[in-house]
Amino acid sequence: MQTTISLRPFKPDDLEQVIAINRTCLPENYSSYFFMDLYERYPATFIVAEHEQNIVGYIMCRIERGFSNFGLFGISRKGHVVSIAVLPEYQRRSIGSDLMDEAMKYMRFYKASECFLEVRIRNAPAVQMYKRLGFQTVRILHAYYADGEDAYKMAKKI
Ligand SMILES: CC(C)(COP(=O)(O)OP(=O)(O)OC[C@H]1O[C@@H](n2cnc3c(N)ncnc32)[C@H](O)[C@@H]1OP(=O)(O)O)[C@@H](O)C(=O)NCCC(=O)NCCS
Repeated sequence: MQTTISLRPFKPDDLEQVIAINRTCLPENYSSYFFMDLYERYPATFIVAEHEQNIVGYIMCRIERGFSNFGLFGISRKGHVVSIAVLPEYQRRSIGSDLMDEAMKYMRFYKASECFLEVRIRNAPAVQMYKRLGFQTVRILHAYYADGEDAYKMAKKI
């Protein structure tokens, strides 16, 4: 497999491929409207990984205001990773980590001071990736998912 994978901002033309990756990789699926709404509101943190003009991974995020996950005083701006996935045949090539790093760079552009996400407690690959990126578990969210599985809420200062 050729190794040149590039990251670039999502474009509306990518929608169909991004939805296909989401459905292949994750049980949490969304409407086209949901994807496009995040793109329109936070375009800088909706990023795709491309290989030979095919989309092979994506990350999409939202910027939120609320209490810090690190007990800091006052209201913080936080980058929330809503969804990230890499096609199975492209996994373990650092694409997920690169998408996370790039998204966190642009979260800072939106003036966020921390990044957080929810992950299924049994999703060992994702939990491992987030730990390697410096995330820590700040809460367990019981029965967070529709099928009753718990989530770790993980966060990192950025
Ligand atoms: C989670 C996901 C995005 C990771 O993408 P990726 O491109 O494979 O991740 P990376 O190559 O950057 O992996 C970084 C590190 O995470 C860990 N990791 C990733 N996949 C792993 C696996 N299958 N088993 C164990 N550790 C794994 C490893 O420590 C890895 O580093 P290494 O390859 O040097 O050992 C990908 O597995 C995926 O799309 N999963 C399905 C969708 C999903 O679960 N999304 C997250 C929802 S919260």
